[in-house]
Amino acid sequence: MVSVYLKNDNIKVNVKTGKSMREIARKSGASMEFGCRVGDCSTCIAKIVHGADLLNPINDKELLAIKAIGSKEENLRLMCQCIVEADEGEIEISYFF
Ligand code: FES
Repeated sequence: MVSVYLKNDNIKVNVKTGKSMREIARKSGASMEFGCRVGDCSTCIAKIVHGADLLNPINDKELLAIKAIGSKEENLRLMCQCIVEADEGEIEISYFF
């Protein structure tokens, strides 16, 4: 199991490999907001405080979105594009919306 800590809502959940961050946020009752759900609107952009290596690799839509906002923050991801790929570890996420 992977422990996912959703910092803004102080929610910690244990999830299995293959779970999407969108599903994790919805099922846990987190306040994380989603818009398009396909990587086009950037509403779900968040910072992976730690555990970024436990997620699927960043994709082209995410790279474009992050470039568009012009942030120098590291480990920004679109939560609608993130899937837990590891079997164990800890992920901490801080979101903006
Ligand atoms: S919800 Fe639109 S980019 Fe994730």
